[in-house]
Amino acid sequence: MAQARPADPGPVLISKSEIATRVKSLADEISRDYRGQRIKVGVVLAGAIVFAADLVRQIGLDVEIFFIQASSYGDGTVSSGQVEVRRDEKVDLAGAHVLVVDDILDTGHTARALLDNLRSERPATVRMATLLNKQSRRRVDVRADYVGFEVPNKFVVGYGMDHSGSFRHLPSVHALD
Ligand code: IMP
Ligand code: MG
Repeated sequence: MAQARPADPGPVLISKSEIATRVKSLADEISRDYRGQRIKVGVVLAGAIVFAADLVRQIGLDVEIFFIQASSYGDGTVSSGQVEVRRDEKVDLAGAHVLVVDDILDTGHTARALLDNLRSERPATVRMATLLNKQSRRRVDVRADYVGFEVPNKFVVGYGMDHSGSFRHLPSVHALD
């Protein structure tokens, strides 16, 4: 079988070691902020799986993990205001400390919908951690409590983030040309 040549993800924007250092310090900050408490970590599929896997393994707390799926109706590159949120209903969020973990905060439509959905379950607190923040693209007034890196207005891939299904597995974040 002919081996397909992998497409080019573009230059590295944030290296594997820069990510590792930053994720460790975010985990330390989260562990301090929630000291002595149990947290329910909502991992936003699929982009946040790599970040969340690295993050939760360094949080020194009692952690329960659940998954959230957010589908946005847009043209594929820009999310619209209509976001459908689905999550594991078996996880009881009432009175819980919920930490949403996502890959990138862009226009903010997705985060807004996720946070509104989770708040309807009356958790004690809801906070958000995002690996990347594209502040220049924000259309909705929403902010993350924990941000790994600010990034310029470029389409990024790797470390969980994809372009048409490719590049999620790459250990660094690349800026697609
Ligand atoms: P928002 O609703 O515009 O904030 O979009 C957030 C979601 O869009 C993220 O959780 C990603 O799944 C996706 N996204 C936004 N920008 C990028 C990017 O540069 N690369 C890969 N995915 C992105
Ligand atoms: Mg996403």
